[in-house]
Amino acid sequence: MTEQEWTIGRLLSWTAEFFGQKAIDNPRLAAEVLLANALQCQRIDLYTRFEEIVNETVRTAFRGLVKRHSGGEPVAYLVGQREFYSLAFTVNSHVLIPRPETEHLVGETLDRLPAKSTQPLQVCDVGTGSGAIAVCLAKYLPQATITAIDICPEALAVALGNAEKHRVADRIHFCESDLLSQANGVLFDAIVSNPPYISEAEMADVPDSVKKFEPHRALVGAGTDGGQTTRNLIDQALPRLKPGGWLLVETSPMLAATLKSYLEAQSQWKSSGVVKDTAGHPRVLWAQKQL
Ligand SMILES: C[S@@+](CC[C@H](N)C(=O)[O-])C[C@H]1O[C@@H](n2cnc3c(N)ncnc32)[C@H](O)[C@@H]1O
Repeated sequence: MTEQEWTIGRLLSWTAEFFGQKAIDNPRLAAEVLLANALQCQRIDLYTRFEEIVNETVRTAFRGLVKRHSGGEPVAYLVGQREFYSLAFTVNSHVLIPRPETEHLVGETLDRLPAKSTQPLQVCDVGTGSGAIAVCLAKYLPQATITAIDICPEALAVALGNAEKHRVADRIHFCESDLLSQANGVLFDAIVSNPPYISEAEMADVPDSVKKFEPHRALVGAGTDGGQTTRNLIDQALPRLKPGGWLLVETSPMLAATLKSYLEAQSQWKSSGVVKDTAGHPRVLWAQKQL
């Protein structure tokens, strides 16, 4: 077969098989996303172009992406984008790639806040990373002002870019802060967070593609169990919530019960609970402050 015969269809089949042999997750999807990126087209457009011959320049770019992905680099970093809650977010190595589990946190928050009320809302997203949570909440709560906090200035720059892309930057205040330490002078209707919650010991079992490429500070929580960052957040959230305000935090199935007990030991919370994700794992810890 000659060079000329590398069509879109053949490149996809070859690459999906190659990724499959390397035990890469979703090999066909990865091949399609990377080839669409190299061709600068939408993934869906590939389906009508299977017979098209791919030129050498694009093939060289695609080969580079395939090599990096087979070395563990996540597709989202390679193409600089990941979809979350049906919105496209720019990502780079300074921010965690938004996960489907975190969509539960957004959904649980929206369920508790009055979307159609004309009352202004103050919401805080602690550890905003790419801004995925803050931007979605700003989109779906048009009366809300969001404070988006991160300890990492490079992450805040990515979050600002995403807020601008989705036209909600005028309602999001970006704040470099260690948890809520700099968030003074505002009482919030809700404090929402997907904090780092993996322990150093658990990191041994985390896939290389995560361990080597995603930011350590976005993954590993303080304390031997990884839950100390969340306990600190719980303590700091109480005085910064309005009466009846909500705290919603993503956590790991391993920490959920311990953290719920921690909340229940504080009498200023009216009620608390844990919501499971679609896989049936305890995932979102919530608490409502006394009225
Ligand atoms: C698990 S990532 C979540 C990112 C994003 N919210 C999401 O759900 O995709 C945690 C984020 O918290 C930030 N972070 C870690 N420790 C922090 C701290 N003490 N104060 C504020 N932000 C922190 C990290 O930089 C990272 O962006």
